Amino acid sequence: MREGPPGTRKVLVTGGGSGIGLAVVEALLRAGGRVVVSGRRGERLDAVARAWPGQVVALPCDLASPSEREGLLERARAALGGLDGLVHSAGLAVHQLPGHISEEALRAQLEVNLVAPLRLGEEALSVLEEGGGMVFLTSTLASRPLPTSTIYSAAKAGLLAGMRSLALAGAGRRLRANAVCPGVVDTEMVRTPRLAPGETPPEGEALERRISEQLEALGALHPLGRLGRAEEVAEAVVHLLGAPWTTGSELVVDGGLLLRE
Ligand SMILES: NC(=O)c1ccc[n+]([C@@H]2O[C@H](COP(=O)([O-])OP(=O)(O)OC[C@H]3O[C@@H](n4cnc5c(N)ncnc54)[C@H](OP(=O)(O)O)[C@@H]3O)[C@@H](O)[C@H]2O)c1
Repeated sequence: MREGPPGTRKVLVTGGGSGIGLAVVEALLRAGGRVVVSGRRGERLDAVARAWPGQVVALPCDLASPSEREGLLERARAALGGLDGLVHSAGLAVHQLPGHISEEALRAQLEVNLVAPLRLGEEALSVLEEGGGMVFLTSTLASRPLPTSTIYSAAKAGLLAGMRSLALAGAGRRLRANAVCPGVVDTEMVRTPRLAPGETPPEGEALERRISEQLEALGALHPLGRLGRAEEVAEAVVHLLGAPWTTGSELVVDGGLLLRE
């Protein structure tokens, strides 16, 4: 098989065990790349490694822990014998209205959505091979927040600004940093019921009904009339990883959501 462009050959994918991250992993592997998959749930990562023997190394890591995430890129490079790409797809969204934002949810969202990707990006500047690429997952909620997304929106907006700084810092070694900004995509992240303050989570059939109503309402917000699919976002991520003359940019893949008033 022909080798993909630099940035797509030996890649660390955080959040690679599910959703958009998993779709990125599969797209890279289909193109002949090799991948280190990371996330907290080791069994998910092992399942990916078993499905693609010889092409995947699983490195479990809690990115909210500074000591666990330190040196993750170096470990990925050692595991693959080199590293030319980083995709940060790990993310956490906790919907809470101001006045009801728990300290735990605030800290976890800032660590996983902002601090960890900036630290990984910083490490990538010295670990990635020249000409390599990094891609961060941002969100339409960064520029078009909800009343319940204060911390998530702030973290994703900060990540976008940090990505641009990394793009400048890496340019001397032809390292590229970019972002993909999805609308609402049908993954585990949006299959959690968004509860009003004090509301008890529904169970059984009521829970299923609530989630399917939530998905339908979210899909209808998009001018293109439906939720996104993880594979559609992954395609944009892989494109940017290997795009040799694109850096500091954000590619919006949102079914037209940001066009709405
Ligand atoms: N789905 C959407 O509508 C949407 C829209 C805009 C942006 N995004 C962004 O897209 C990215 C991917 O999300 P998704 O939709 O694919 O959701 P997902 O399936 O829930 O994926 C999130 C991933 O993050 C990992 N993760 C969470 N906390 C972690 C931690 N402390 N340490 C390490 N890994 C952690 C999870 O793995 P473990 O639980 O195993 O750790 C999981 O694989 C996220 O950055 C998200 O903010 C999603």
